[in-house]
Amino acid sequence: MRKENRNSEHYFVERPKSKLKLGIIHTYLRGKSFKFLTASGVFSKKRLDLGTRVLIESMILPEEGFVLDIGCGYGAVGIAAATFNPKLHVIMVDVNERAVWLAKQNLELNNVTNAEVRKGYLYKPVENKLFNCILSNPPVSAGMPTVKAIIAEAPKHMTAKATFQMVVRSKIWGKRLRTIFEENFGKR
Ligand SMILES: C[S@@+](CC[C@H](N)C(=O)[O-])C[C@H]1O[C@@H](n2cnc3c(N)ncnc32)[C@H](O)[C@@H]1O
Repeated sequence: MRKENRNSEHYFVERPKSKLKLGIIHTYLRGKSFKFLTASGVFSKKRLDLGTRVLIESMILPEEGFVLDIGCGYGAVGIAAATFNPKLHVIMVDVNERAVWLAKQNLELNNVTNAEVRKGYLYKPVENKLFNCILSNPPVSAGMPTVKAIIAEAPKHMTAKATFQMVVRSKIWGKRLRTIFEENFGKR
């Protein structure tokens, strides 16, 4: 069995064991100021990830309805979506309990009342729910089966006109993800 190295703990574990070290990120997104409480043991704790920023800056939000931020981390994507369209109700889901705690704190820090955070694995916390939009900056480090499941299970949770918007930086995965998208959403 491999010995656990507490300093290199993965951000997608359910219960981070690393010592809690808090930080704060101040940033502008679509011209609006946000602050995010972050911590050791979660994704991109020191600065907003470039993929997160690209997703937020380019996401197309529905006029109303429900939005899912799957793998929300400390909550930047879901909080931005809820802020930019107060008519939406945003559900943010993450498997990492520290990320879930941070995302809840960040709702308050950013005065967001039209969003909630649920802890759990993939779509489990929203089992019977349909969304008008699903947003994801997926946990690439968790491996292809997790990312594939986020894509493959999405259609079951989407209304007829819903959109699924994902950002992935990996050049290596580009081709494989295209195939997975085509298998689950059809060819464009
Ligand atoms: C790349 S990070 C993105 C976090 C956040 N959306 C952002 O852009 O800053 C992916 C997130 O997915 C979460 N995650 C990993 N596996 C998961 C699973 N099976 N179910 C739910 N969330 C998961 C991780 O804990 C992590 O917070």
